[in-house]
Amino acid sequence: MNTHPSKDIIGTLGNELNGKQIVLCVTGSVAAVQSPDIARNLMRHSADVFTVMSQMAQKIIHPYLMEWATGNPVITELTGQIEHVALAGEHPRNVDLVLIAPATANTISKITCGIDDTPVTTVASTAFGSGIPIIVVPAMHESMYRHPILVENRKKLTALGVDFVGPRLEEGKAKIAGTEEIVDAVIRRLTPQDMAGWRVLVTAGPTLEYIDPVRVITNKSSGKMGAAVATEALRRGAEVTLVYGSGHAILPPEAHVIHVETSQEMYDAVVSELKSERIDVVIATAAVGDWALDQQYDHKVSTRRTPELVVKLRPTPKIIDEIKTISPQTFLVAFRAEHKLSNEDLIQSAYDRLKRSKADLIAANDVGRTGVGFKVDTNEIFIVDGNRNVVHIPLTTKREVAKRLLDVIAERCSR
Ligand SMILES: Cc1cc2nc3c(=O)[nH]c(=O)nc-3n(C[C@H](O)[C@H](O)[C@H](O)COP(=O)(O)O)c2cc1C
Repeated sequence: MNTHPSKDIIGTLGNELNGKQIVLCVTGSVAAVQSPDIARNLMRHSADVFTVMSQMAQKIIHPYLMEWATGNPVITELTGQIEHVALAGEHPRNVDLVLIAPATANTISKITCGIDDTPVTTVASTAFGSGIPIIVVPAMHESMYRHPILVENRKKLTALGVDFVGPRLEEGKAKIAGTEEIVDAVIRRLTPQDMAGWRVLVTAGPTLEYIDPVRVITNKSSGKMGAAVATEALRRGAEVTLVYGSGHAILPPEAHVIHVETSQEMYDAVVSELKSERIDVVIATAAVGDWALDQQYDHKVSTRRTPELVVKLRPTPKIIDEIKTISPQTFLVAFRAEHKLSNEDLIQSAYDRLKRSKADLIAANDVGRTGVGFKVDTNEIFIVDGNRNVVHIPLTTKREVAKRLLDVIAERCSR
């Protein structure tokens, strides 16, 4: 890898694509303006990105922009260097994946027919022959996207093992998918599918307990840890249901999300899922409110007429204590938040909780520590098992914590 200054962002968001080389093929759609952003985000997840552009793409964005974005020379034509074979031929130095983003109607139909008359289509043809994974991200007017031949060609490519991401049908256009969705599809395609066929249920976010119709008691959870766990499980091939309280995390679009507000609603949703589906793993990251009003007001309480408001709280149902009773074969992992404890006390508290809930693992974190727990993008956890063995994941991004937690779950859960 050379030391072009543009490469200083490599790995800043994660190491999921460490050691992976990706060809980003850009074709003649206005959505090519998003290609630099896609390249940069792939790099932030540790990929090395090489750009190949069609003639028409070069009329929309200049190759200099892609060279700046990736820190690598851009292929704008095929020469005596046989660039298509160097990148996607069948040899040990070939790339790991070909991403066509944006993909025009023209390029999609050409590669379906095996036509290769541009740098992009020739790289795609070569990748097909070498068995290199291909992801296509269409972008065009909706009228072009509805062309029956294009519809047919998408089906044919899918049958050949090509993944499609998007498009988003909006304003009469079949718009390119969002950068995050595209990067996630790349990571998923290159991640070992060790959870393929697993059904995973994740709870996430805070709950709300109503005082009156407009006021609530809640906590500082954002739901980011649960969203990271759900994203990682999806990447590994699991089917994910996310029971989500009122947080503000970005949720993976492929998850089946059940939105809830109160702890009772979260409890009911989890119980109903466990009773109606086979759930292999539950990962309970939600910060469920421990207390709810004994009786909530059915009208907005007036501050003028109520100078002092005294409320009685009752404990809410403990969701994690029900899981093994309803579904003993489900592998249960529960998060436990503590505040300003020593490592030893944190581990002991996690172990006690594990015994009470019959959980398989408890992931304990101390939200009193800097950079840990609520709202932030980082976490530190101690994973405790039934033999009181501990796996410590030191302070790192929630994505990385999720990845390493799922490594432990994949290793220990024999579904
Ligand atoms: C400004 C402009 C924007 C275009 N946007 C799209 C588009 O979003 N999707 C598409 O399929 N074609 C679009 N086209 C048409 C393609 O560029 C045209 O079909 C071209 O032959 C594609 O060549 P390529 O697939 O080799 O890049 C656009 C053309 C122009 C001039």
